[in-house]
Amino acid sequence: MEKTKTLLLLLTSSIILFKLYLFPPTQSHEDLKAEPDELELTNLNNNHTWPLLYAKDVVSLNGKNFSEFMGKNRNVMVMFYANWCYWSKKLAPEFAAAAKMLKGEADLVMVDAYLEKDLAKEYNILAYPTLYLFVAGVRQFQFFGERTRDVISAWVREKMTLGTYSITTTDEAERILTVESKLVLGFLHDLEGMESEELAAASKLHSDVNFYQTTSADVAEFFHIHPKSKRPALIFLHLEAGKATPFRHQFTRLAIANFVTHTKHPLVVTLTIHNAQFVFQDPRKQVIEGPLLLLILGNSYFCF
Ligand SMILES: *[C@@H]1O[C@H](CO)[C@@H](O)[C@H](O)[C@H]1NC(C)=O
Ligand SMILES: *[C@@H]1O[C@H](CO)[C@@H](O)[C@H](O)[C@H]1NC(C)=O
Repeated sequence: MEKTKTLLLLLTSSIILFKLYLFPPTQSHEDLKAEPDELELTNLNNNHTWPLLYAKDVVSLNGKNFSEFMGKNRNVMVMFYANWCYWSKKLAPEFAAAAKMLKGEADLVMVDAYLEKDLAKEYNILAYPTLYLFVAGVRQFQFFGERTRDVISAWVREKMTLGTYSITTTDEAERILTVESKLVLGFLHDLEGMESEELAAASKLHSDVNFYQTTSADVAEFFHIHPKSKRPALIFLHLEAGKATPFRHQFTRLAIANFVTHTKHPLVVTLTIHNAQFVFQDPRKQVIEGPLLLLILGNSYFCF
């Protein structure tokens, strides 16, 4: 019994010693620390680090800073890519060139959708590369055109001047509120067709106000339109001034454009004993709306 035990012990020890001799442990603690650099080098050799080449012109975003960037920048085109994907790599130089052409007008962003699983899931990215234009933090349009700098930049410019954007969820509505200072919202039967066209036409006359449309009663309510309102309904929100003005005329481009003209500039007028008389005789005061009485006379916003 004792003999077998000793034999077994000897056998195990010799196996261990033999193994150590053949495969000496080379990875000390220091080596383990150095591993990330090695990985990066390997990647460079496989040339999967190509996105770095465009860092000068294209912003790179991940799950941690995506929302913050979207909250601060109005027109953002996002390229969801995978770094192993040939078509992503092929598009990148054209995308970066488009970014240069659009400098000051729109931001072009790359997101590694293969790594950033949460973002990929949120935006349902099923193919690489996928290109979207976000306006005020909300995804609005997908790009399907020819992947060249000229076509991309022309497309972004065209979408930016469109003037009317859609809101489908209250989540999107919330994001828009953090970006916009004033906006028009149309609560429509349909996102396409007559009503939408009238709204879009009116928006062309007001490049300084952003026009949105929705068919969702929840979104309408979020923007202070009563969900039971008869469609089409429209409201002007002056968020800085905390003012909501409903539109009460016929839903035509001209009536909407006029309404926006009269509502968009709350003039700041200081009421003094000298101008009080004049201000109160202003015919525009007929536009007074309910509880905002005396605060809003016509288009004037008073500081008392
Ligand atoms: C990686 O690819 C880019 C072009 O996509 C090329 O300019 C660069 O030289 C390549 N780098 C390496 C290390 O092969
Ligand atoms: C977002 O985070 C990534 C990773 O930390 C970084 O490379 C990138 O520059 C950041 N983008 C912005 C706009 O801060």
